[in-house]
Amino acid sequence: MAGLPPVSDGSELLDEAERWSLDQLRAEQLVRLQWSLQHAYDNVPHYRKAFDDKGFHPRDVKTLDDLRHAPTTQKSDLRDNYPFGMFAVPREQVVRVHASSGTTGKPTVVGYTRDDIDTWAGLMARSLRAAGVRPGDVVHVAYGYGLFTGGLGAHYGVERLGCTAVPMSGGQTERQIQLIHDFGARAIMVTPSYFLSLLDEMQAQGIDPAESPLEIGVFGAEPWTPAMRAEIEQRGGMHATDIYGLSEVMGPGVAQEAVETKDGLHVWEDHFLPEIVDPLTGDPVPDGEPGELVFTSLTKQAMPVVRYRTRDLTRLLPGTARPAMRRMEKVTGRSDDLMIVRGVNVFPTQIEELVLALPGLTAYFQCVLTRPGRLDELTVRAEAEPHVTAERRSELGRTLADQIKTRIGTSARVEVVGEGGIERSVGKARRIVDQRER
Ligand code: DLL
Repeated sequence: MAGLPPVSDGSELLDEAERWSLDQLRAEQLVRLQWSLQHAYDNVPHYRKAFDDKGFHPRDVKTLDDLRHAPTTQKSDLRDNYPFGMFAVPREQVVRVHASSGTTGKPTVVGYTRDDIDTWAGLMARSLRAAGVRPGDVVHVAYGYGLFTGGLGAHYGVERLGCTAVPMSGGQTERQIQLIHDFGARAIMVTPSYFLSLLDEMQAQGIDPAESPLEIGVFGAEPWTPAMRAEIEQRGGMHATDIYGLSEVMGPGVAQEAVETKDGLHVWEDHFLPEIVDPLTGDPVPDGEPGELVFTSLTKQAMPVVRYRTRDLTRLLPGTARPAMRRMEKVTGRSDDLMIVRGVNVFPTQIEELVLALPGLTAYFQCVLTRPGRLDELTVRAEAEPHVTAERRSELGRTLADQIKTRIGTSARVEVVGEGGIERSVGKARRIVDQRER
């Protein structure tokens, strides 16, 4: 592998808050938290009722730790208050809404005031800077534009940083490659799974991805593993950094990995207060312990969120590149994506690690869940590289099944299919195909 392109830490470009000491950060967080809780209590009937039911009042919050007495919020609370019931400002002050695709039931709707959009653009610009992107760069945005927060969220940050935004959105794969080359994009923002398709397309067009102008990828919106990072960096000759966010809390740009350390994502704690809770009991666990990530917004006007349960599983670690801002470890999965196969807990990311470690397999795979009897069964469908023979595919299948047995501890059927056998996505990959009878 050729070495990765040189990048600077950009320390001369940091926002003031990124330089705060821990004491400064905590003091500012407390003031902002008190404001945010009061704002939610005064203006959102859902929060007023939830706080009152729990005997919790914003004025009782004297330390950051007191937040643990506040009720948590979940996706269903947003659905129950569809469409605008969670807004804390008159609808006329909401300059934009986004919404989840809502495959089941009503979508969840989120809203932003002009100031919220301004904050978001600032945090996306900060995230891009941490990823190594610099003013003047051309940035190719292949996150979907529309109700999804990925495209527009990224876009405003690119412009704010002083870069040239290419608002490509997802799809039209051949065209993406042409524009990346013709416009000289130094950075790309896209889901890691769709980026794999882009790498394949480059190779199909006879282009060595490592020769492309891309030097930095800002990948998120779905879980991806260190093995995937290695694959992308090696094939693309570029840095692969992780960006995290969710619509309910803002969108992309809640946390971002620094390119110079690549050791987890710094949570932009001047705007979002993270906690980790036990996913079963909801009780807070100390930093360093794994559990479910929970966020409280500190500055959001249109739609404050109080202890929002993300369902994402991770740990909080001390700051490094930004000493006061804690890091979240790469998300291992969503609690919704936990598969329990013969009593063993399995996440798609564990399968991804194994698939990528096997030469001859591509990074495309799916976990198919069925329930032929009383127990769930897992079939892993993985795609072989082009030109792998049928015989070799069967061998790869047996090896992967063995690995799943020894490394994860459960039995799975494995089917290794030929080129194009696994569906491609242009956004978030569908890793789990649930065929269980309800
Ligand atoms: O996916 C926002 C986003 C867009 C983030 C572009 C990063 C880049 P939602 O559609 O609301 O918003 O989905 C949020 O996606 O709760 C996680 O489960 C997952 N997710 C997002 N980023 C990451 C990441 C956007 N870096 C949900 N690693 C979250 C793992 C991620 N999972």
